[in-house]
Amino acid sequence: VHWTAEEKQLITSVWGKVNVEECGAEALARLLIVYPWTQRFFDNFGNLSSPTAIIGNPKVRAHGKKVLTSFGDAVKNLENLKATFSKLSELHCEKLHVDPENFRLLGDILIIVLAAHFTKDFTPACQATWQKLVGVVAHALAYKYH
Ligand code: HEM
Repeated sequence: VHWTAEEKQLITSVWGKVNVEECGAEALARLLIVYPWTQRFFDNFGNLSSPTAIIGNPKVRAHGKKVLTSFGDAVKNLENLKATFSKLSELHCEKLHVDPENFRLLGDILIIVLAAHFTKDFTPACQATWQKLVGVVAHALAYKYH
């Protein structure tokens, strides 16, 4: 994957303003609410019985932060995404059995969270670049699947 100087700039400038705790929690909560079948991977997270329960669930918040923090490794390793996510790909495939389609869903949700937070600053060019990034990350996370 090639990244232009402009794309790199759009990625780092947005990422620099992201509150990982807030946006991570919101992204995971939205995933679980919008695509309720994803809840089955988190059956040890306690109460996921309603949108309010999911949004207020501390385990969802903590895990959302963990996931978005890990997504930040993509921002720091744009030239090296497959290697960066190879261990996590193995984990999600062999241990967690997460269908890789879910990586795409979470990527799309992250775009919506960023758009909601940054409104007009999240320009079409920004969206295009981030769409590319979440796609490449999803691909890297799916790489070890067989
Ligand atoms: C665990 C990252 C997407 C399900 C994790 C961990 C990380 C991570 C860093 C912790 C690994 C560890 O403890 O060593 C990511 C990233 C994703 C992603 C970067 C996409 C951008 C997903 C999706 C699902 C999922 C879409 C399911 C719908 C899980 C589960 C765990 C986990 C079930 C274990 C949770 C626990 O019980 O602690 N993920 N993940 N992940 N992930 Fe993901």
